[in-house]
Order: sequence, then C-alpha cells, then structure tokens
Amino acid sequence: MRVVIQENYEKMSIWAAEHIVCAINSHRGPRPFVLGLPTGSSPLGVYKKLIEMNKAGKVSFKNVVTFNMDEYVGLDHDHDQSYWYFMHENFFNHIDLPERNINMLNGMAEDPEKECADYERKIALLGGIDLFMGGIGVDGHIAFNEPFTSLNSRTGLRTLTTDTRIVNSRFFGNDPEKVPAYALSVGVGTVTDSKEVLILINGHSKARALAQTVEGGVSQMWTCSALQLHKNAIIACDEAACGELKVDTYKYFLDVEKSERI
Ligand code: GLP
Repeated sequence: MRVVIQENYEKMSIWAAEHIVCAINSHRGPRPFVLGLPTGSSPLGVYKKLIEMNKAGKVSFKNVVTFNMDEYVGLDHDHDQSYWYFMHENFFNHIDLPERNINMLNGMAEDPEKECADYERKIALLGGIDLFMGGIGVDGHIAFNEPFTSLNSRTGLRTLTTDTRIVNSRFFGNDPEKVPAYALSVGVGTVTDSKEVLILINGHSKARALAQTVEGGVSQMWTCSALQLHKNAIIACDEAACGELKVDTYKYFLDVEKSERI
C-alpha cells in the first residue's frame, strides 16, 4: 500500500487528480478506461481539478466509462441529495464524458437485486475497473459497506448504521431520520477487484479511520482495511488525517514517497 501524505486538502486533491489524468492518458484503447467514482465532500477538490484539466485540454473523458460506488434507496434523480444529482452537478455536467458512458445504481429500481447483479455483470463485460477512486466514512466504511460487511461482498442492498445516518444528516437538515435507511452499494470485493484503488482520506475526523486502514489488522470492523490485501492501493491523505498514525509510520511513508521521486 502507498500512503501519499500531502500538506493540505488542496494539495491532496491536486495530487489525486493528476494521478487519475496520468492513468487515463497512459491507457491504450480500444477498450475504454473504466473509472470508479465516489460522492461525498472528500472528492470535491479532485472533481474541481479534473474539470479544470479537461477544459484546459489536458485530459479527455470521451473514452472513459464510469461506475459510481453507491446510491441511496428511495431518492430519484431530481432529489438534490441523490448521488445521481450530486455527480451531475459537481462533475459530469462540466466535462466531455458522454452521458451513455455513465453508470450509476438506480435507488428507485423495482428489483434492487437484479439492479445490483446487472451492475456487476456490466463491470465484468467491460473488463473490470481500471481505477476505483473512493472516500471513507469516519467508521472506515468504503462505499456504503458499513462495519461487519463481508470483505468479499459484491454490489447489493445495504442498511446504513445510525452513526452514518447521523454523520450524513448534515445534508438532510440535520435530521438523521430524513437520511435514507438503505442504499445500493458496490461491495468491498467489487472495489478490491479493481486494478488500482485510490482512496482519499482528509481531515481530523478521519484520523482514526486512516490509522485503522494502515496500521490496524484486516478486519470487517473497518471495511477499508481490506485495502491492505490489494496489490495496487494508494491512500492520498492530508496532514490533518495523520493525527493518529504512529510517528514512525508517518515518517516511513514520507521517506518512501521522497525516494520514489528520485
Ligand atoms: C458516504 C458515502 C461514501 C463516502 C462517505 C464519506 O457515506 N457513501 O462513499 O466515502 O460518505 O463522505 P465525506 O467525503 O463527505 O466525508
């Protein structure tokens, strides 16, 4: 696992955006580049930078196909807290990605099980995900894979924990009851099957989750810890999120990144 520590959120976002652009630009077709994407406040800086780079002609999304991580059950596309709305508002509407290349789970699907199985099938048909970018929750959940979700899980229906509903209530008038209780989400296994995984971890509130992801054991208590078994996982984080890492761990990853640049 690589842990790329940047001074602040802005620098972390620039680093991650440049890494994604480099991966897209070095990809050789005809198969499209398959990119997994998250919602949340963590990726907003990356989306802003990717939009800038797309407008500046440094990257094109015309040969990119995207798969989003998750969607609330019961919110339609027009709901301003649906992840469909979030992604269009903050990213898709501003880049040259064809609408037909966008894949998002439908939280209004009549048959959620079929919706999720079809999603997995489509990812497989395209040859898998080349790079999955993600964020994590304060309890270490990856996508909506809450503590105790199997580390082998595939796309399916998830029940949100009370903790997550409280954290996400900031977008629902601070009322946890208004946060949907269920979501459709890719599985931990869906994420770790990707050729590369890039997880953004920023801010003091994520310090415990970062320490568990990097230093804790692999455990379903912290589903993000599954990354330890991935051959090509990168965590891009800011200084604020490093507060609970051991000093030696922190220094080790700074040293490794310094020597990689030589
Ligand atoms: C939600 C999403 C996750 C996301 C998490 C963190 O629960 N389902 O995919 O990683 O929020 O969000 P934020 O980046 O706003 O802290």
